[in-house]
Amino acid sequence: MTATLDRPVDEDELQAQFDATIAAEHRIEPRDWMPEGYRKTLIRQIAQHAHSEIIGMQPEGDWLLAAPSLRRKAILLAKVQDEAGHGMYLYSAAETLGADRADLTDKLIEGKQKYSSIFNYRTLSYADVGVIGWFVDGAAICNQVPLCRSSYGPYARAMIRICKEESFHQRQGYELLMTMMRGTPEQRAMVQDAVDRWWWPSLMMFGPPDDDSPNSAQSMAWGIKRHSNDELRQRYVDMSVPQAEVLGVTLPDPDLSYDPETGHYRFGQIDWDEFKRVVGGDGPANKERIARRRAARDDNAWVTEAATAYAAKHSGVAA
Ligand SMILES: [Fe+2]
Ligand SMILES: [Fe+2]
Repeated sequence: MTATLDRPVDEDELQAQFDATIAAEHRIEPRDWMPEGYRKTLIRQIAQHAHSEIIGMQPEGDWLLAAPSLRRKAILLAKVQDEAGHGMYLYSAAETLGADRADLTDKLIEGKQKYSSIFNYRTLSYADVGVIGWFVDGAAICNQVPLCRSSYGPYARAMIRICKEESFHQRQGYELLMTMMRGTPEQRAMVQDAVDRWWWPSLMMFGPPDDDSPNSAQSMAWGIKRHSNDELRQRYVDMSVPQAEVLGVTLPDPDLSYDPETGHYRFGQIDWDEFKRVVGGDGPANKERIARRRAARDDNAWVTEAATAYAAKHSGVAA
């Protein structure tokens, strides 16, 4: 791109322009010069986010055929389809940075790029669908609302649409749980069991603690991230505790208590060894998640080939 300019490009000048754009809280757009580190960090983060949306379809998708009513099935189907859409927006945002979508999928399947560790846990009952909506989509909202102000334009704009849909996801989950809590003792027990299994993994969704999160400071300086992992985790806990009370379930943490001095809920120690194990590939369902994604890529390769050939033919006509 720089070769098309009439005068020699001064890297310092470009860097100064970039820094001024960030300082003024303006957006960086795909046509703008950006430091290589900024581009790489964004591609890594957006790809990881896109992969999470796509892999995240699996644990809930497992219940599509077993939904207890037509209404529940329609809601779940809409939700899982939304997640596919989120993945598509995000892969498109990564493409504006020069990434290749097929290459990103290959990196996911080869284990070179990660996705949110929460999706490596299994859904054992229909209450899990509700708890995923309440906890996992709720945590996603905490993480993603600040990203609507991310410094990279295409990412920020994608997040605005995604957040609107995530808030529907959270609501449908909570509404399902409310309905179950008004049901039989067995249904209430199913909800409590799901809460017990998903609470701690949902706290891990915000990533490692701030003092063990090496890339955070740079991402915050670049305006890619707006709040630290621990800040967002605290926000999520503060939001969830009153919701649990209204629902009538107990969050599985004996250390959970309100601190009137800070106005926040204190909570117990997160099992970071479990987090590292699951992120590292040794969670309950890591292998099957990737195996299914691999099968989807390979079995549907003919569709990709046909669509690519069709697009090439039509661009040839246009040329
Ligand atoms: Fe999503
Ligand atoms: Fe969602």
